[in-house]
Amino acid sequence: MTDSAGQARPQGTCRACGGTVMQFLELGRQPLSDRFLSQPEIHQEYFFHLAVGACERCTMVQLMHEVPREQMFHEDYPYYSSGSAAMQKHFVDTARHLLGTEAAGPDPFVVEIGCNDGVMLRTVHEAGVRHLGFEPSGKVAKAARANGVRVRGDFFEESTAREVRASDGPADVVFAANTICHIPDLDSVLQGVDALLGPDGVFVFEDPYLGDILAKTSFDQIYDEHFFLFSARSVRALAASFGFELVDVERLPVHGGEVRYTLAREGTRRPADRVAALIAEEDVGEVATLARLDRFAGDVRRVRDDLRALLERLKVEGRRVVAYGATAKSATVTNFCGIGPDLVSCVYDTTPAKQGRLTPGTHIPVRSADGFSADSADYALLFAWNHADEIMAKEQAFRQAGGAWILYVPQVHVRG
Ligand code: SAM
Ligand code: TMP
Ligand code: ZN
Repeated sequence: MTDSAGQARPQGTCRACGGTVMQFLELGRQPLSDRFLSQPEIHQEYFFHLAVGACERCTMVQLMHEVPREQMFHEDYPYYSSGSAAMQKHFVDTARHLLGTEAAGPDPFVVEIGCNDGVMLRTVHEAGVRHLGFEPSGKVAKAARANGVRVRGDFFEESTAREVRASDGPADVVFAANTICHIPDLDSVLQGVDALLGPDGVFVFEDPYLGDILAKTSFDQIYDEHFFLFSARSVRALAASFGFELVDVERLPVHGGEVRYTLAREGTRRPADRVAALIAEEDVGEVATLARLDRFAGDVRRVRDDLRALLERLKVEGRRVVAYGATAKSATVTNFCGIGPDLVSCVYDTTPAKQGRLTPGTHIPVRSADGFSADSADYALLFAWNHADEIMAKEQAFRQAGGAWILYVPQVHVRG
């Protein structure tokens, strides 16, 4: 069986259900998306094969090849969730929502998987509510502790979840944002949640939504850390195979479009009408069909060709092009499209842990965002397009001085 590019379609085994995964998109040799390099490190980079497929049985969209978790999440993991004011607000609102609903009883216990720098749990801590964050990445965990958050520096998995159940008792809420899709071993996660959650507790997690990724051709959501691209249908199937039920879904505007899934133990809650409604919408949009996914793959190759053509033309015209936001997502864009320092001079970013280093695979220098306004670039390629409102509001002087933003979602366009 061949794919949309006329290639034999490789197959794999589904990490959610054991069914057969059919590949639909090939993104080539890719580096670790969050490994920003010092000059000597460019000679010892880790690469892996980035390709995506969908399970014939449960529809779960997933990477064909897995990167060992210790390669991605370690002492120097450089992503700090509090780096965006809009995301800080989102997580304060999320914490308040949980505190007003699922964690509103006497002496509630809230657990977060992947609490990072404490962007969400900080508000839970300040409310005096019992909590625990799992965070294996050393420096971000330290930042959370400095915010008063109680952190266990381990991966969440069945064994560590059982230990917490034994020491702290059952959790009312297990929450995760932008983390469950990072964990190929879903068996261990769901078994851990089963061990830790009280009988009436809920498992709430939010992650990039496949429906939005297809609609926006946001292929940069596909990289080593994003092992799964969830849909309501695939999450409902996953929940059911572990004795849980998908009881609510909420679409979120953050990070280019996410869904917050709520799972409860089977039979304990009546699923909200919007669960069936979202699955019906996915059926109409054929989100889970190989034909739709093949069309997406064609769209991705078109965006790649358009972006390269634009950057090459600007180079010939002698324009200065820089980028903004050294995102993990941009590793897929730069490496798949072949964008290096010849086409984009540097990337501006607010994260100290990324500054002074080189982007993974393509080795574009990362500079402090403080220098952006003095750069007088003609164009800025916005890698952090999911934070466009926040960044464009902050950097208004760039356009006033005649600069223009280049965006590639949902297609390549220039905003002058
Ligand atoms: N929740 C934050 C947010 O939404 O901004 C952080 C998201 S960050 C992309 C993913 C985090 O999950 C990282 O800090 C990483 O170290 C952590 N992580 C990865 N695998 C994990 C696991 N098995 N258990 C707990 N945390 C994990
Ligand atoms: P994210 O899209 O994965 O959240 O990553 C956003 C990156 O962009 C992160 O490295 C921080 C950076 N950033 C800025 O440089 N300036 C900003 O105003 C914002 C919101 C993010
Ligand atoms: Zn499956």
